[in-house]
Amino acid sequence: MKHFLKETDFGPSELGALFGLARELKAKRGRHATPLAGQTWAMIFSKSSTRTRVSFEVGIHELGGNPLFLNKNDIQLGRGETIADTARVLSRFVHGLVVRTFDHDEVQQLADIGTIPVINALTDLLHPCQTFADAFTLAERWGRGGDLVGSLRGRKIAFVGDRGCNVANSWILGANLFGMKISLAGPTGFDAAPEFDQLLGREGFAGGYQFTTDPFEAVRDADVVYTDVWVSMGKEEETAERIRVMSPFAVTPALLAAAKPGAFFMHCLPAHAGQEVTQEVLDSPRSIIFDQAENRLHMQKAIMATLALSARP
Ligand code: CP
Ligand code: NVA
Repeated sequence: MKHFLKETDFGPSELGALFGLARELKAKRGRHATPLAGQTWAMIFSKSSTRTRVSFEVGIHELGGNPLFLNKNDIQLGRGETIADTARVLSRFVHGLVVRTFDHDEVQQLADIGTIPVINALTDLLHPCQTFADAFTLAERWGRGGDLVGSLRGRKIAFVGDRGCNVANSWILGANLFGMKISLAGPTGFDAAPEFDQLLGREGFAGGYQFTTDPFEAVRDADVVYTDVWVSMGKEEETAERIRVMSPFAVTPALLAAAKPGAFFMHCLPAHAGQEVTQEVLDSPRSIIFDQAENRLHMQKAIMATLALSARP
């Protein structure tokens, strides 16, 4: 049974087929096969969402399935029923689970104890659906008509801002999986949680990544400048301190200009213009933020179709 809890749940040899399927599903939207026909996929969300919720609901529907959105507080999980019992019960009813929560261990437990595919739709630790859709967005441009995944190899991504957040962690795993270089710039004291180092240890992670406190150093020779909000969901009480220490890491036109000529600007969204990025950069021709958002749909459909196939008896 295949799950998608972290980038490395797909091996390098599987990426070509996955990205190719995303491209096909995008090109044939409205007239492709429906591999989730007759299935219901539940979506348990403990945090807010626009892109992830809508792209999964629409994606499940377009693959022929029925999306069942469950706010954590509307089900017994929100009143203390265990993850283990929730996993066992939902496995009797539905064919797949899409989960957005705080503690990464919850998605791991749902996958370990349930008997249906589980997709991580964002935890405090990782946001793998985002990085795969982002990588597909870049591959569409760089690998036009040809080798999508191969077009990523050797490219450099610079992540600037909250270098310890879920999207930054995911890009460390993603960059190494895709054969890209990654440099992260942010203030000291906001490193990844210890769980991330433990995960890298369990993965036997031998890949490279650089940290610096100089955003201009990070973006040098970068093909992509990426940022995320400074205050992730669940960190709201640290807002004032985060804005204070992360202000030097805003993506401005000057910072983007210090990357490679033609470098793309990316942001997972939602954005806070005037904090982590200026409105000018968000609106610039180098910004591909809405292509990233759209590709959430196509890549997640490819992921669900692949997982559904692996779950067939
Ligand atoms: N990028 C992303 O996951 O957006 P949402 O929080 O709106 O789902
Ligand atoms: N790092 C952000 C990503 C939102 C899509 C958060 O966790 O809130």
